[in-house]
Amino acid sequence: MKAGFIQFSPEFGEADANIEKALSMIEKANADLIVLPELFNSGYLFISQKEVDAVAEEIPAGKTTRALCAIARRKKINIVAGIIENFQGDLYNSAVLVSPAGYVGAYRKIHLFNEENLWFKPGNTGFNVFDLGICRIGIMICFDWFFPEAARILALKGADIICHPANLVLPYCQDAMVTRCLENKVYTVTANRTGFEERSGKKYSYTGKSQITAPDARILYQADAQNDEIGVAEIDVRTARNKKINKYNDVFTDRRTDCYKKLIKTKI
Ligand code: ACM
Repeated sequence: MKAGFIQFSPEFGEADANIEKALSMIEKANADLIVLPELFNSGYLFISQKEVDAVAEEIPAGKTTRALCAIARRKKINIVAGIIENFQGDLYNSAVLVSPAGYVGAYRKIHLFNEENLWFKPGNTGFNVFDLGICRIGIMICFDWFFPEAARILALKGADIICHPANLVLPYCQDAMVTRCLENKVYTVTANRTGFEERSGKKYSYTGKSQITAPDARILYQADAQNDEIGVAEIDVRTARNKKINKYNDVFTDRRTDCYKKLIKTKI
């Protein structure tokens, strides 16, 4: 199967234009699974709760999820995309998963970054794996990469591919995903945005370089730091389902959970 990402620079507050842009890029993508960046339809650098409220949408009833479902059905493609979710007045930094059969599910970002803590509630969906038939996928969003537990849980739950919508502002993630993939023997697709936002004296520069990484630590595709790009790579889920390192080692069964239990519960 083929999995990939769409990298572009969303325009702040221009949902219709951003959806249009993403749809036109999805149209050109030759893939079974495509990942879009975090908050792809809204931009990222909010300066008030009012602004966040204005772009939040219900999932799956909102216009963005409906537009993604329509193209997924027509193009027979699976899509993961980051949007702001309004669930009964609570706002989440979420990612939706849609398939050719319609809406599948959503993930609400668990590890909020910086001022996201002002706007969003921490995610409460847990880390879930969705079986799409051709592959099993897990979803985590941007800063979740900083916590190895996120990718580990998704891998332990059976994800072949971790879909990773992102608005990265630190330079470390692309390198870190190599280790995340190796230690879990999974594929990852990090769909990052590009561009620059400056609002009320605050500035963020987004790092691009969206990346598809393989279970053996190979970078199958890395995008440019600045340009719009559709990146696609061939994925063999059997590689992700074989957790053996050699005759005597296996990344899952070698885990010494008896030695980790205390650490999971304790601050040290
Ligand atoms: C981030 O989590 N958007 C850095």
